[in-house]
Amino acid sequence: MELVTKISGITLRNPFMNASGVLSQTVSLLKRLQEAEVGAVVTKSITYEERKGYENPTFIKINCGYLNAMGLPNPGFREFLKELSLCRDEFKVPIIVSIAPSEPKQAREMATTFKNIASAIEINLSCPHSEKLGLEVFNDAKLTESIVKNVKDGFDKPVFCKLPPYRNEVLGIIDSLDNCDAFVVSNTIRAMKIDIKAKKPVLSNKFGGLSGKALHPISLALVFELYEKTKKPIIGVGGVESWEDAVEFFLAGASAVQVGSVLEKKGITIFKELVEGLEKYLKEERISLEELIGLAHDS
Ligand code: FUM
Repeated sequence: MELVTKISGITLRNPFMNASGVLSQTVSLLKRLQEAEVGAVVTKSITYEERKGYENPTFIKINCGYLNAMGLPNPGFREFLKELSLCRDEFKVPIIVSIAPSEPKQAREMATTFKNIASAIEINLSCPHSEKLGLEVFNDAKLTESIVKNVKDGFDKPVFCKLPPYRNEVLGIIDSLDNCDAFVVSNTIRAMKIDIKAKKPVLSNKFGGLSGKALHPISLALVFELYEKTKKPIIGVGGVESWEDAVEFFLAGASAVQVGSVLEKKGITIFKELVEGLEKYLKEERISLEELIGLAHDS
């Protein structure tokens, strides 16, 4: 079955990509992802200035998924651009550059800088634990709106907004994000774990983001609701560990799916598994991917 799909005019050989941050911190990791069967690669969120990230522990497994608080470690946009420019031609799949801006002018400068490199920009409006970034930006509606407008003004290709999983806040803001081209739904849920012997939080940052199995039904419900409220394409992300989880996202209305935590568990071979599983399902159901998207709304 044909898995080629389009998101805001970008052609993907299949609808699967990595979620920002997982196995995407360096250009060599992005190259490895490309060798797996991804439809596009998504970079780690890049900030204006370099960030060292938090001390360990930054990633732990818990009984309902994973908690992470890496602290958006990255070399800063200038350095990352240098690294990516050197091997841009080696990428045959679209590169989606994730940026985590904290103010509009910097957002525009970052977007402009990646003009000749990125097929799309994903704006991280949802990291749940970094000061003046991600969720803290999203919680200021005017700032968010201005950042999205500036990124659009500085970048002539599609701009995606990566949203948090908080329904009321998201539904309250989407109309003012009319400028963007697609929504990525969703980032992790702010969460924590306490070590009862040490009597203190396990993550060095105390708070982190919950991903994995527990996130899946929450993101799925938000994708379903957003599909009815917006005409924009949606990229579903959250707890996808199998092709069946991905099919749920398509049925809810996602046009593409990102996978994150499962890359830690299964490695990049998950992409082959997703592609083969989806192909088989579409064949058995005698349906195209296009027909599958949003089909759960017809019942
Ligand atoms: O800690 C981190 O780098 C997480 C980023 C995010 O959730 O967007």
